[in-house]
Amino acid sequence: MDPLQDNGPPGPATSVYVHVPFCRDRCTYCAFPTVADDPYAHEPLVDALLGEAARAPIAAPLRTLYLGGGTPGLLAPHLIERLVTGLRAHGPWAPEAEVTIEVNPANVTAETLRAWTGCGINRLSVGVQTFRNDALRELARRHDAEAARRALSLVADRWSGSWSADLLIGWRGQEVSDVRRDVEQLMRWEPPHVSIYGLTIEPRTALEARARRGHVVAAPESLHAEMDDTWSAVLHERGYERYEVSNFARAHHRSQHNQAYWANGSYLGLGPGAAGSVHPFRWRNLADPTEYVARIADGRPVREFAERVSPQARLLESLAIGLRTRDGLGTDELDRRFSPAWRTVVEDAAAPLLDQGILQLDDATLRLPPAELVRADRVVSEIAMMVES
Ligand SMILES: C[S@@+](CC[C@H](N)C(=O)[O-])C[C@H]1O[C@@H](n2cnc3c(N)ncnc32)[C@H](O)[C@@H]1O
Ligand code: SF4
Repeated sequence: MDPLQDNGPPGPATSVYVHVPFCRDRCTYCAFPTVADDPYAHEPLVDALLGEAARAPIAAPLRTLYLGGGTPGLLAPHLIERLVTGLRAHGPWAPEAEVTIEVNPANVTAETLRAWTGCGINRLSVGVQTFRNDALRELARRHDAEAARRALSLVADRWSGSWSADLLIGWRGQEVSDVRRDVEQLMRWEPPHVSIYGLTIEPRTALEARARRGHVVAAPESLHAEMDDTWSAVLHERGYERYEVSNFARAHHRSQHNQAYWANGSYLGLGPGAAGSVHPFRWRNLADPTEYVARIADGRPVREFAERVSPQARLLESLAIGLRTRDGLGTDELDRRFSPAWRTVVEDAAAPLLDQGILQLDDATLRLPPAELVRADRVVSEIAMMVES
């Protein structure tokens, strides 16, 4: 049998992630690379992002652009327009390219919605999190429930593109009934796409510091399964497909950008703290925006970490992201990318999971049955432990 290989994804990078690190406040649970907002730093950052894009032009037509953060919705519309127009100058775009911006409810007005459309943005991701004001305050979110309702009404009435709303589940004091109320309330605006993230306690966050001091900072784990059943039942009844553990979409509204990422394709990451992955490498940029801007201006490198990824690590990465999706991984693509040797690796490492039907391998796909999707992370860490032992 040939050794495991990594022939790379089927094509070149056609997705770009742009990181805008500014936030008005730091949410207690957030470990993303963000800094306190400084409006004077917006323009230099946009110039630097375009400078970095010029170093790595897009060769194939760009299919998805994702402006994430941080809070890219804080950028003035003329800067977003400069950024998107500038990126268009660095390579061809597919005519139907998906262009998403992450926004907080406070960023949404009739004017910003109009301006974002004018910039070529055709998808919004709105960070709602919950409609409970006491929880929003405790999580240090900037907005209150009324601001979220106002933003959602504006988006539902005036936004002609696709959009998504994020909810956060598992905060301290949350009951299963709160989960139902939050999801049902969100349904009033019929978002085409919903992301529901289970709260994780990340290192170096305010929540983690509180937990270390012995405080309760999250809903008990014993409620997680019932919470998951509750939100997935409400969304299923309303016609949403759970196409990934945390993501639900109505027909034709899956996130193209996330799907490219879950297929373990190549993508460029631009901006301070952004990660990128182009076969056979992956990298991460330094996180400090001031240093990032200075280095781009001086023509110096901005990557603080880069590595060549081994075929085994790439296979595990493909499983870690692909098994969280409803469609799982296609065996033809696994054969093409990793050589048929991937089957031996998976069959050896996951024999008990395959025997119990928790992991399913047939002629066409390797996947978890839909009811097991919530266990995807545990299944993959079990496989990884066996492969690495
Ligand atoms: C990084 S944020 C960017 C969007 C925007 N700044 C916001 O907060 O709405 C993307 C999503 O990740 C979620 N997130 C961040 N840290 C998290 C954590 N520790 N556990 C679960 N979700 C988290 C946020 O709540 C948000 O919905
Ligand atoms: S969750 Fe969003 S708004 Fe809050 S600090 Fe993180 S990136 Fe900023």
